[in-house]
Amino acid sequence: MKFIPFSELFRILILLVMMLIIVMVFRDKFTWQTEQLEPLISYSDNPYESIAKGDVSWLRRSIDLFDRLELEPGQTKCRKLVEVGGKSCNGGEDGMKLLCLDADVALDNKRCVVYSFGIQNDISFDKQIAKYGCRVFMMDPTLPEGSYDWVDGRLTFLPIGLGDKNEIDIEMDEWRSLEYILDNNLLVGVQQLMVEFHFFIPDSSAHRVVEFYKQRWLFLERLEDHGFLRVRYDVTYSDQAHVRMLDTNDTAYICGELFLIRRSKSHQ
Ligand SMILES: *[C@@H]1O[C@H](CO)[C@@H](O)[C@H](O)[C@H]1NC(C)=O
Repeated sequence: MKFIPFSELFRILILLVMMLIIVMVFRDKFTWQTEQLEPLISYSDNPYESIAKGDVSWLRRSIDLFDRLELEPGQTKCRKLVEVGGKSCNGGEDGMKLLCLDADVALDNKRCVVYSFGIQNDISFDKQIAKYGCRVFMMDPTLPEGSYDWVDGRLTFLPIGLGDKNEIDIEMDEWRSLEYILDNNLLVGVQQLMVEFHFFIPDSSAHRVVEFYKQRWLFLERLEDHGFLRVRYDVTYSDQAHVRMLDTNDTAYICGELFLIRRSKSHQ
């Protein structure tokens, strides 16, 4: 196996706080003993409504990206949105995932398969959804083999990531992982997708930052090409991810969980 310097490993570990959850769902109904969530803003006041896909002229400052992620209501509304997993830490939730239980995307507990990437040390979501009956594959190339040998039943842990070789996988962050997934058309049959995105910027001068964020946004829009609509974005309020924007000196929380679903035609 390739030698990885400590600094690189540390960077990877931070990036791999990523949580990429893919849930294959079909029908059936199930009542989760969890809280029902509502979108923060109603559909009528979407300031981004008239902007066409592919148009990034609205993104003039870095902060515009985070404003849009936080302020824009979902492209589709999930009527039965529930929280699954998560553990409370000083009042803050962590590891919590969203599921949409609307009829067209709801879980079939006999046929559902969950791929959970970048689990790190929190498998609360995985355990809860396995209890419901889903087959769960937990994957994380940063954890040693056997890390979750104690789990049984429907849970399987694999110390791997996406792709062919471990050396490649371990350096993939959520952006590259998702790019790999899209390029290889691996979302066939997947109806719900939850990704924790990190909008860290590479070392670059202020004027290139906005260009970088435009590319990030256009990448998010690629998910629409595969039928995925944004339901909700939840900011991760961590001090580490509270960053000063190079172009305007505004600060923003640059990490968050994006939840998307692929609806059947009749529900769009
Ligand atoms: C941002 O802050 C730095 C350091 O305080 C300062 O040099 C720079 O001019 C500021 N930039 C803007 C756009 O306000």
